[in-house]
Amino acid sequence: MAIHIATLAKAPYLWIRRAVADTLFERRYDVRTSPVIELDELGIPAHERIRYQATGWLNLPRILPAREVGPHDVFVDFGSGMGRVVLQAATRYPCKKVIGVELSGRLVGIARANVARNAHRLRCAEVSFVESDALDYEIPDDMTIAFFHNPFTGSIFARVLQRIVESVDRAPRTVRVVYVNPVEERALLETGRARVVRRLRGMRPTAEWSRSNSTRMYEITPRAIGHGVAG
Ligand SMILES: C[S@@+](CC[C@H](N)C(=O)[O-])C[C@H]1O[C@@H](n2cnc3c(N)ncnc32)[C@H](O)[C@@H]1O
Repeated sequence: MAIHIATLAKAPYLWIRRAVADTLFERRYDVRTSPVIELDELGIPAHERIRYQATGWLNLPRILPAREVGPHDVFVDFGSGMGRVVLQAATRYPCKKVIGVELSGRLVGIARANVARNAHRLRCAEVSFVESDALDYEIPDDMTIAFFHNPFTGSIFARVLQRIVESVDRAPRTVRVVYVNPVEERALLETGRARVVRRLRGMRPTAEWSRSNSTRMYEITPRAIGHGVAG
């Protein structure tokens, strides 16, 4: 009981921390990426697709420190929304490419403008957005980091995952998957090709609440050196 009370007391603290980070970073980058937007406002059918809600600013630097990303890395944000994660990756990591894939043309327009306003801060050589359903997006065979903030579920997630595994087999390499609110973790692990390599824990008391606050990093490896299902 004592643990639950302590955890509940943390909830307002985390909410305040997020609001402060939103204010400070949005001012710094001169962007506004924090509103939540429902898919029906964007004219997008919601089946297996999730509304726009940005990842917390403190999330990506904690799960993937800049020292672990190099000039050969290609980072793809699946469901890139207003481009917060693309902007953060491109300004933090000296990588080869950062690509945002997003279904809503309206959000792609906002994301492109957000990155353009910060062109002088970019550490990554090439930043681009693709307006597309992730289902139709061809996985680049040089992609090494895939980012998901629970953008879609069910058959859409399964299909995109299958394409990533096919790409890893076609062009053998390790792909790191950063997954915020990993609702489809089971599908990922059931490929037998992915294992969890890092966890940022969410808060209890409920398992649902804990998962929705958590971020995990996985590695997908080529078949020959693939790992078994992680426990
Ligand atoms: C939870 S938001 C994440 C936004 C951004 N990645 C971030 O972390 O700040 C999910 C985004 O995925 C987009 N989305 C949902 N289904 C999609 C699909 N099938 N293909 C591409 N984008 C999709 C939504 O429009 C929304 O912008």
